[in-house]
Amino acid sequence: MKIALGADHGGFNYKNKIKEYLSSIGVEVVDAGTFSADSCDYPEIAQKVGNFVVSGEVEKGILVCGTGIGMSIAANKIKGIRAALCSDTFSARLTRQHNNSNVLCLGERVTGEGLMLDIVKIWLETPFSNEERHLRRINSIE
Ligand code: RB5
Repeated sequence: MKIALGADHGGFNYKNKIKEYLSSIGVEVVDAGTFSADSCDYPEIAQKVGNFVVSGEVEKGILVCGTGIGMSIAANKIKGIRAALCSDTFSARLTRQHNNSNVLCLGERVTGEGLMLDIVKIWLETPFSNEERHLRRINSIE
């Protein structure tokens, strides 16, 4: 599996932790930045990760900012992106099963590190249900 990963300065620490975790389970990471804790603009990073996903270069994307909100707003502007902001494992599971979300957004200032890594794990491991009603709803968004 190949994942595009991006963060602004508000999510920079978690990006490094997620990268470490993904590497430890054999997931290939395309790092879309940012590459320092200096202030930067989250829309540019969201666009990079979203484009990696819609181009098919990677299977899914993960975006982190302070709240996860800016990243999710920006990523969801890209056609074909279904970005889910998650701060609990139930939502992480359900957004894969029901929404077939292809980008996970996280808030470093909101979610503790242990929970955040559980969310990443569950989101990556949970397949889309492929149920007709969910496909219909997703197609209706597109
Ligand atoms: C940066 O200060 C902060 O606004 C950003 O990380 C994010 O939380 C935006 O939604």
